[in-house]
Amino acid sequence: MRKKIVAGNWKMNLLKEEAIELTSEIVKLLQTETSNADQLLIAPPFVYLSSVIGVIKNEKRISVAAQNCADKNAGAYTGEVSAAMLKSIGVTTVIIGHSERRAYYNETDAMLAEKVKLAVATNLQPIFCCGETLSQRESNTHFEVIKEQLANGLFQLNAIDFAKAIIAYEPVWAIGTGVTASPQQAQEMHAYIRKLIAEKYDSDISNSTSILYGGSCNEKNAKELFALPDVDGGLIGGASLKAQSFVSIIKSF
Ligand code: PGA
Repeated sequence: MRKKIVAGNWKMNLLKEEAIELTSEIVKLLQTETSNADQLLIAPPFVYLSSVIGVIKNEKRISVAAQNCADKNAGAYTGEVSAAMLKSIGVTTVIIGHSERRAYYNETDAMLAEKVKLAVATNLQPIFCCGETLSQRESNTHFEVIKEQLANGLFQLNAIDFAKAIIAYEPVWAIGTGVTASPQQAQEMHAYIRKLIAEKYDSDISNSTSILYGGSCNEKNAKELFALPDVDGGLIGGASLKAQSFVSIIKSF
């Protein structure tokens, strides 16, 4: 069976002490809470990764993800952080192709394909993000957009490597806006993504791929979204910055 996953994407928020405090609070709350989630992740900014890994060391249910990695292996790329560097400090997972990276840092599908390749080669689990903008949805091209993003950024992997990846469907119009995709919209797109995976690989791989929903997912709507047949959890932005909200979302499973 595919894994139920909740991942918190902190984006560019918090100072060091706050990051440590938030992690400690999450760890503390989880000691007394139960959840059927199989995998919990938090994705702090690069500079806090090691500190956060230190705080969670006794909480085996949580692992740490990076929000990005370089599309190059090593060398003269000032300011970049490679997948291998992340792996070497104990990071297990990396978010690749978040819409903010695509929109503000001009990350192309070709760059994302390189990042995915390097992550998998390094044994980092990629969370590959896809999602359409509001105008793409309004012009009814959202299925095509998702198909292209997956075909160009992720489906270059062979079946063995693809099976290591997680997909996050994050409609851009729902990210940080308080407007969540309706359960129907989420289910429809997740089922479509699953169909694309089955066509590209096979139905076993498709049925065992975790597809997360992201975009204004919070403690109020998580239960309904996570109960949908093709939604296997969430990539949580804003609501992952408060321990209580994040743990409530985790408890939605
Ligand atoms: P949000 O962000 O939950 O704040 O909408 C989700 C994301 O961008 O991963």
